[in-house]
Amino acid sequence: MLSLFRKTPILGALLAQVIALPVVAAVTGPLSTSVERLPLIVIALVLQGALAALLCALFRLPRWWLLIAFLFPLAMGSAMLLGNLPAWPFGIAFLILALIFSNTTRGRVPLYLTNAETASVLKDLMRDRNAKSMLDLGCGLGGVVRALDGEGRQARGVENAPAVYLAARLLSVIAGKGEIRRGDLWKTDVSDADMVYAFLSPTPMPALWQKLSTEMKPGSLFVSNSFAVPGVDPDEIWELSDSRKTRLFLYPIGKAVEQTPA
Ligand SMILES: C[S@@+](CC[C@H](N)C(=O)[O-])C[C@H]1O[C@@H](n2cnc3c(N)ncnc32)[C@H](O)[C@@H]1O
Repeated sequence: MLSLFRKTPILGALLAQVIALPVVAAVTGPLSTSVERLPLIVIALVLQGALAALLCALFRLPRWWLLIAFLFPLAMGSAMLLGNLPAWPFGIAFLILALIFSNTTRGRVPLYLTNAETASVLKDLMRDRNAKSMLDLGCGLGGVVRALDGEGRQARGVENAPAVYLAARLLSVIAGKGEIRRGDLWKTDVSDADMVYAFLSPTPMPALWQKLSTEMKPGSLFVSNSFAVPGVDPDEIWELSDSRKTRLFLYPIGKAVEQTPA
């Protein structure tokens, strides 16, 4: 069960709310004759959030899920108490968030973007290695693709979140730089890229290395922003001087890489 929650924390968070609900109802029910309606609702919402957060802690969910578990009932309750709010802004907000983040619960890779300093270092890296083609797996808004495309280099990106893909595609068409495709990075052909770049999360790194080390061509290079491949020594680690002290892990393909003992 805990490993399921580690993979899909939203399930643990939902279960925590479901378990907390009858407990809170049992505790606050008898108070309904002695406490006024509004304070009672507030007490119930705070209890619901606190209990759900406690359960999330027991389920060993990351800390930010505890905060979400606590605030969720209060946010729901406030929205209901405010009564006559129109429903459509919530519907549109939900739709936009779903189009941007729908893949996050499955893939455990949220959207955050490579900064301009890092993109510039990646461009120098391609120049130094005479790399002509690059592929950004999970390209977000396509900033890296556009920054690296041109001067004889071809840059491509693949992105599966619908709204993010559309924005990336549009920006690249307007800029006339790079090629953005909608698709799943796991099904993407990486065999002709001189350099593959990824800025994902710790979760997919072992499986990603499995894919890249078997499918990329010998002599090519895999660069991971911030997340190392567990158990595999990178050839080089570049620590940049940007504000977030970005670290780039460089893995040449086809060169014997040392496996770090587990
Ligand atoms: C941390 S962002 C990095 C964006 C971009 N590479 C950059 O560095 O600016 C990761 C991106 O990967 C996308 N992503 C996650 N899983 C994916 C998958 N299976 N296939 C394609 N894209 C994916 C996410 O939607 C998100 O836009």
